[in-house]
Amino acid sequence: MPKAYKEFDRLETERLTLRPFTETDYPLILRISSDPKTTEYLYYWGRIGMTPEADAQRFLDYAVKNWKKSPIRAREFCLVLKDTGEAIGDGSVEWVEDEAGTAEIGWILLPEYRGKGYATEAGQELMRAAFEIMGAEAVIAHCDSRNRPSRNVMERLGMTLRNIEPEARPAKRAGEKNGDECTYEITK
Ligand SMILES: CC(C)(COP(=O)(O)OP(=O)(O)OC[C@H]1O[C@@H](n2cnc3c(N)ncnc32)[C@H](O)[C@@H]1OP(=O)(O)O)[C@@H](O)C(=O)NCCC(=O)NCCS
Repeated sequence: MPKAYKEFDRLETERLTLRPFTETDYPLILRISSDPKTTEYLYYWGRIGMTPEADAQRFLDYAVKNWKKSPIRAREFCLVLKDTGEAIGDGSVEWVEDEAGTAEIGWILLPEYRGKGYATEAGQELMRAAFEIMGAEAVIAHCDSRNRPSRNVMERLGMTLRNIEPEARPAKRAGEKNGDECTYEITK
């Protein structure tokens, strides 16, 4: 892990506040886990045998537990619209365990908040936090190769495709093939 950095628990963009998830965000998370179209290309969500309720609780436990860890390992931020106070999704930044100095970022939006640039806006700020606050040397993002909207966010952030790993993402339905995993990267 790189040099010392300041802790941070809140980030801001022009239109968004990024704040820690708390137990009260369960309804938002349950909406994410209950929508198969939203979870289709997410790595941990919607796996065979998981219920939406169990999935939502798994995510919340992970998010809240990591907010208590110091130094930072993973930060899951609730994305909140400044104008209305609505919670619209998730933005994350975390250290990559086996790649020293590399942080990973990610995003999820509820369907009705897509197409407005919020994921790219949050991603820009998460990338800035990774480089400027955490002291990362590189930032990566992963997605299923079929997840064009997420790849578009990565490309808008200036990231470039590093590699595609065949069948690295677990299938969501019995009998389906695993998904191929894209890794995008940007260095400082
Ligand atoms: C991936 C995901 C977050 C992308 O959402 P998105 O809305 O396409 O991305 P953004 O919020 O950055 O919005 C970009 C779109 O808004 C448009 N837009 C509208 N107003 C804009 C503004 N003020 N600023 C920037 N873009 C704007 C852009 O032109 C772009 O549209 P396009 O894709 O048709 O070209 C979303 O599809 C999602 O939540 N999917 C399910 C979860 C998931 O798969 N997450 C990724 C896991 S790796």
